[in-house]
Amino acid sequence: AAREPLKVMISGAPASGKGTQCEMIVQKYGLVHISTGDLLRAEVAAGSEFGKKAKEYMDNGRLVPDEIVTDMVVSRLSRQDVREKGWLLDGYPRSFAQAQSLEKIKIRPDIYIMLEVPDEILIDRCVGRRMDPVTGKIYHLKNFPPKTEEIAARLITRPDDTKEKVKSRLETYKQNTEAILATYLDLLNKVDGNRSREVVFSEIDSLLLSVQENVIKAKNLD
Ligand code: AP5
Repeated sequence: AAREPLKVMISGAPASGKGTQCEMIVQKYGLVHISTGDLLRAEVAAGSEFGKKAKEYMDNGRLVPDEIVTDMVVSRLSRQDVREKGWLLDGYPRSFAQAQSLEKIKIRPDIYIMLEVPDEILIDRCVGRRMDPVTGKIYHLKNFPPKTEEIAARLITRPDDTKEKVKSRLETYKQNTEAILATYLDLLNKVDGNRSREVVFSEIDSLLLSVQENVIKAKNLD
């Protein structure tokens, strides 16, 4: 039977492992990964008007205004590849207003995954995080170092990954979480993100497999 493309939302505090898990999910399920953080960082790197505005907020660990982010996400979600392959939304919605924007245009996921990691571990993960500007791959100095010297030499640190900024990002996250969860309570699956990346992925994998089964069944009943 043809597989109905999956629609997945992944959420969690800064450095809870969203980007890391998304890489693994995309590899297996071929979904289109839409990360608002990545889209915004690309705008900043391109030096667009959008990017200039967004940078001020991002560098201070605050949310970029809804209208900028929502337009970006909605236009990405309407592209053909998303309809064919399904989507994996990472870092959006991040406020009640953003969740409502999607509800209004009837965009809902099949599953809402929330990664849970204790605060003190999040700070260590942010401070040790490095990014490969060539491949976009995420590393960690201790937990997940790159395999070659060549990659190690070109890694960069995100400007918002200092201890102080992580604390304010975490604060912002906590202020918004409850209001967003209320929108997706029926689809919510909490996953303990304080385990190895492979173990976390295997739990997410089995959740996605069972959701995929249900999507196929529902389609056959139509
Ligand atoms: P965004 O890029 O979304 O940042 P974030 O939510 O803070 O999440 P991170 O990218 O920091 O972490 P992650 O959960 O992806 O973890 P990762 O896999 O890298 O947003 C950045 C900014 O953009 C926001 O602050 C805001 O200003 C703006 N923005 C974005 N979306 C917006 C929106 N919707 N509205 C308004 N503004 C928005 O892992 C972290 C580290 O831990 C890595 O080093 C990794 O190797 C390591 N690690 C991962 N998994 C494990 C594991 N299981 N064990 C050990 N180490 C691990």
